[in-house]
Amino acid sequence: MINVNKIREDFPILNREVNGKPLIYFDNAATSQTPKQVIDVIVDYYSNYNANIHRGVHTLSQEATDLYEAARLKIQEHFNAKHSYEIILTSGTTHGINLIANGFSSLLQRGDEVLVSALEHHSNIVPWQMLCERTGASLKVIPMNENGELIMSAYDSLLSEKTKLVFVNHISNALGTINPIEEMIKKAHQVGAAVLIDGAQSCPHIKPDVQELDVDFYVTSAHKMCGPTGVGMLFGKEEWLNKLPPYQGGGEMIDQVTFEKTTYAGLPHKFEAGTPNICGGIAFGAAIDYMNTIGFDNIASYEHELLSYATMQLLNIDGLKIYGTAKDKTSVISFNIEGIHPYDIGTILDKMGIAVRTGHHCAQPIMDFFKIPGTVRASFAFYNTKEEIDALVKGVETAKMMLS
Ligand code: ALA
Repeated sequence: MINVNKIREDFPILNREVNGKPLIYFDNAATSQTPKQVIDVIVDYYSNYNANIHRGVHTLSQEATDLYEAARLKIQEHFNAKHSYEIILTSGTTHGINLIANGFSSLLQRGDEVLVSALEHHSNIVPWQMLCERTGASLKVIPMNENGELIMSAYDSLLSEKTKLVFVNHISNALGTINPIEEMIKKAHQVGAAVLIDGAQSCPHIKPDVQELDVDFYVTSAHKMCGPTGVGMLFGKEEWLNKLPPYQGGGEMIDQVTFEKTTYAGLPHKFEAGTPNICGGIAFGAAIDYMNTIGFDNIASYEHELLSYATMQLLNIDGLKIYGTAKDKTSVISFNIEGIHPYDIGTILDKMGIAVRTGHHCAQPIMDFFKIPGTVRASFAFYNTKEEIDALVKGVETAKMMLS
């Protein structure tokens, strides 16, 4: 059970006002807010342990290294990776995707096919287009239906021995659809294709088990799950990570360097060139601890309650249409009001202290599918309340009145 009033005390930002009104934060799919348990870890790091890692014999460096590697173990445990060296710390989901797309440049050739879903964020489209340009492989799209669900029969028809890679998000950022990734991974493996799952939107709501999923690559960002920006993780199966070349060259990722030849470090360091976001990595671990204390089952069921309540209330508004009505969806509602631009609604809501995202949500192909310029998107977290949803509904009604 969620004790939302108690949880809200953990988030200092929820006490602030915006435009003279108490902040109502419904832009959680863009970034989540940070609890004091994580903020304290960041302050503690810079107050007591700030040093570069894996490099110094001095005490501070060793302490920082221990904390950073302890965070890697926490991340490994959370996602149930078999080995800690299968967890690569990145700057975020986009970095993880680009690292893999770059690595596959030497493994693909003309005639190979890679599949992406129609529900992808630009960060899970553009790197694969670039990969296809480099290698001559072709990009195929798994289509979706009007509810924003992938059409699985079309997926079955697209899969063949030419398919080398499948990329799909676990949950759509624009519509909230939860994709049937277990089934998709199984089917991809039957034709010998590797699968990368973009978990940026799933990790705030559920706890993926990478071994149970049998997924080849899984990427996410800490800032969507109560951690800081600029840090994330890439899980890769050991055999794949060993096959892929390094992404960036630099310090940390080498074994021996001479001007004639360089040999590379083993996993995970081969993929971690340069000084990483040390404090961010440690705080990522703290964010995972925080969310596990609340419990992912509790989070999922409470957010589902918020989603059902908000859907019901918003649909009472005449002319309001929700985009993304999948059977399995998470706490994201994308909507428009007939004849009104989403940006105008977002601007009026902001005047009332209500933060939503408006626009194409970095998913222009989804907007093209629905033939709209964008939507208003309200995305809920476990620290939101039904009273806040009531305020959103009232705000949207007022905006509609003002703009009609
Ligand atoms: N991908 C983030 C969003 O959906 C930024 O808002």
